[in-house]
Amino acid sequence: MTSIVFTGIAELVTNDSLLEGADHSESLGLLAEAAVVVEDGLIAWVGPAAQAPPADGQQDVGGRAVIPGFVDSHSHLVFAGDRSREFAARMTGVRYDGGGISATVSATRSAGDDELRGLLAARVAEMRAQGTSTVEIKSGYGLNVQDEVRALRIAAEFTSETTFLGAHVVPPEFADRRSDYVDLVIGEMLAACAPHARWIDVFCEPNSPHAFTEDEARLVLSAGRDAGLGLRLHGNQLGHGPGVRLAVELGAASVDHCTFLSAEDVAQLAAAADSTVATLLPGVEFSTRSPYPDARHLLDAGVSVALATDCNPGTCYSSSIPFVLALAVREMGMTPAEALFAATAGSAKALRRGDIGVIRVGNRSDLTVVEAPSYMHLFYRPGVPIARSLDPAGRHRR
Ligand code: NIG
Ligand code: FE
Repeated sequence: MTSIVFTGIAELVTNDSLLEGADHSESLGLLAEAAVVVEDGLIAWVGPAAQAPPADGQQDVGGRAVIPGFVDSHSHLVFAGDRSREFAARMTGVRYDGGGISATVSATRSAGDDELRGLLAARVAEMRAQGTSTVEIKSGYGLNVQDEVRALRIAAEFTSETTFLGAHVVPPEFADRRSDYVDLVIGEMLAACAPHARWIDVFCEPNSPHAFTEDEARLVLSAGRDAGLGLRLHGNQLGHGPGVRLAVELGAASVDHCTFLSAEDVAQLAAAADSTVATLLPGVEFSTRSPYPDARHLLDAGVSVALATDCNPGTCYSSSIPFVLALAVREMGMTPAEALFAATAGSAKALRRGDIGVIRVGNRSDLTVVEAPSYMHLFYRPGVPIARSLDPAGRHRR
């Protein structure tokens, strides 16, 4: 066993509501002048620096803040091709409807394995360099058996949080045979993909001609659950719709986007707060010129809220959780503490993970160091890369 003590932590964000001696005035379980001991990749001790036990090694972070590594619980990183022109069109008011996904599907199918792996590795490295320690990665740009399996296999080289999204859109070759495509997804494709995935997701959006209806989404998620996968859902992104209702009905871990919510949706999410998280993706509203959801209202209603990037080529090609944090505070009415909690403990909950998102004894040592004396600089210095994910030995993670 090797242990290392992290010292010189001017401010430690633990998210641990039970930590003795911490400031619990907000949700963050803050400790000033703290130390953390890590043993074999797990947190072994948390407390005031003056009381830190001895360890085999020491890492002095030099008066900086330390926070739980960001958990990016929603991304689509396995893709090839370029859709930057689509972004330019959105900025002039052209609405998003999911139609551009087929361009990424054909570029991704044409890419070799090594090319795809290299593109994914670069995007994950971008995330690490901005403080993210855990990332969920979806398939969804293969949309045939072979290319969906390939995307999940490659994603699994980078994360255990892999999500089968064969029901992203109906691919062009099935345009006149929607139900045949749903049959393929819940049949042969699911059987081939399930061994490589932890989750199943569906783009449930009656407002898009490319995405799936409530009944189709229910079929897909039910089949995924029968195959042993956890449930996630893209819902209420382009307009009011059945997504939230369906996610709550099926006990999905998360319903993501939640851009357009009715009072009934909010009430259902609040009642389901223990099981279903509302994952907000404000980078999408930014990059598609859409209205932001009212996170303040959701929090006040008692909804469990997470924040993630949704990094993808169509609606938000940003891998930056700090960017998302800035938007959450500036545009959605969250306090900095609420936003930081939502992108760490909140998104850990959206992945049903108890071992990350909170710095407490027994959890994984996923620490992120902030190049500043307090976490507030994440918000105070938007656009400046001051958060960096550390490995258990205290080196910058790549
Ligand atoms: O989460 N809405 C569906 N899927 C992605 C966008 C995918 C794309 O346009 O390439 C999203 O916004
Ligand atoms: Fe998405």
